[in-house]
Amino acid sequence: MTAARVEIVQGASPQDAVLEFAQAVVLGLSDRPRWTPARFLYDADGSRLFDKITDTPEYYLTRIEADLLEEHATAIARFTGPRTVVELGSGSARKTERLLSAYTRHYGPVRYVPVDVSEDALQRSATSLTRRNPALSIRGLHGTYDAALQELAPLSPVLLLFLGSTVGNLNQTEALGFWRQVSGSLRAGDFVLLGVDLVKDAAVIEAAYNDAAGWSAAFTRNLFARMNRELDAGLDLDAIQHEAIYRPDWRRVEIYARFQRRQTLNVRPLDHELVLETGARIMTEISRKFDLADLGPYLESLGFEVVHAFTDPRSWYALLLLRRGRET
Ligand code: TRP
Repeated sequence: MTAARVEIVQGASPQDAVLEFAQAVVLGLSDRPRWTPARFLYDADGSRLFDKITDTPEYYLTRIEADLLEEHATAIARFTGPRTVVELGSGSARKTERLLSAYTRHYGPVRYVPVDVSEDALQRSATSLTRRNPALSIRGLHGTYDAALQELAPLSPVLLLFLGSTVGNLNQTEALGFWRQVSGSLRAGDFVLLGVDLVKDAAVIEAAYNDAAGWSAAFTRNLFARMNRELDAGLDLDAIQHEAIYRPDWRRVEIYARFQRRQTLNVRPLDHELVLETGARIMTEISRKFDLADLGPYLESLGFEVVHAFTDPRSWYALLLLRRGRET
């Protein structure tokens, strides 16, 4: 059996990682509106909680995406030809498995390079994938997208997976920087498979981010549990409420943690204290929703040709197969 190997590209020692978290918390909570970078939601516990969200009846995104992947895996594998499959934010990689099997069925051994900020999620997914499909050779990269994208060029020809509408977690400015970086890291003829959640009825979207079983709330609260664990923050988690609102004018869900009581947040590694008054809100993530009529031309303007757009019958979600064109 092939042993799953997890390589660290970011090279941050655990102390540096805690310091980075501490600095991000101080910076974001001193800003107005208060915010924290989304990637800190996905530690080992956060990644497990996120999987619970994807299993809830309200969270339609993962189910539709998995169905689209299942339905079109063979066509995608045939169309791109053999290549290294790289995945940004792979998490549990449960739905990627179907696509990877289409590649190994057609082309034999395939190299898979999952990238994630949770080392635990990488280890677990790599182990289970290699056990189930010995034709996979896996090299996980533990780190941020920035760090991983710099490792891409030598892996070409590649298919870069960016699923789960994670691109929606980047604001306009971040997204532009991201696409420029992707375009600069890929070679002409490389492919990207992009999963995006589409604009739809506000009630359907809001329910997906406020599931009745409370996993979304637990996920938001875990960020503060992480502050308690890593920063010795001393927060009472019961006083923190999850709030997710869809803003049709901005075509995005805004996810907040609302403080129902005044609290002091210690950032021990920096010897810093922050006060959160009753009613204070921290934006922990945004999730933008897309319109294919706008997204296609936008991606084309950045040097990506939209070769296929797969959608479900209700047009709730889309998988776009993009080809990186010549230098732009
Ligand atoms: N990437 C997920 C999304 O945009 C993030 C997410 C889903 C999320 N549910 C959440 C973040 C609840 C915070 C709270 O769909």
